[in-house]
Amino acid sequence: MKTLNHLFESNLAWARKIKEQDPEFFTRLSKIQNPEYLWIGCSDSRVPANQITNLDPGEIFVHRNIANVIVHTDLNSLSVIQYAVDVLNIKHIIVCGHYGCGGIKAALEDQQHGLIDNWLRHIKDVIRFNSDQFEGLDQDQKLDLLCELNVKEQVNNVTNTTIVQNALKQGKEISVHGWIYNIANGILKDLKT
Ligand code: CO
Repeated sequence: MKTLNHLFESNLAWARKIKEQDPEFFTRLSKIQNPEYLWIGCSDSRVPANQITNLDPGEIFVHRNIANVIVHTDLNSLSVIQYAVDVLNIKHIIVCGHYGCGGIKAALEDQQHGLIDNWLRHIKDVIRFNSDQFEGLDQDQKLDLLCELNVKEQVNNVTNTTIVQNALKQGKEISVHGWIYNIANGILKDLKT
């Protein structure tokens, strides 16, 4: 198998650069992680949580999947939320979608793509829940609207997990934020969900 030497080289250069700027950076991080935010975003390579928020390693706890969907039976995302809320005591959960999302686009189409269609089924449900809002829109407008509505739906799903509900009952301060990112200009927008 071919090794990816260029990635190891760029990793070394990156680690050296950080050590030059802050010699104790990695020593400090190796002892504890104390992030303030949980990011739930899309797997899309153009939407990297740390880079677009300009946060360093250690500052944001991240879960990404196709089209930033929180499914009530998905142990993976639920475990991330539970650890973030109960153990890391994170106070801000950010659900961040993005315009031009391939997963959302696929959910708007009738064409099959394989196993992924079962995942995208949850986004097709978002269309069904809000079908009146899509009337009279062209395909681009539908895509933008669905990217936004999906964020709102997933904010509801996060808020309604037993994890967040129990934490709120215990008096913990937790805010769930719905954001959308524009891959065409690099700008984040709060959907004020
Ligand atoms: Co996406």
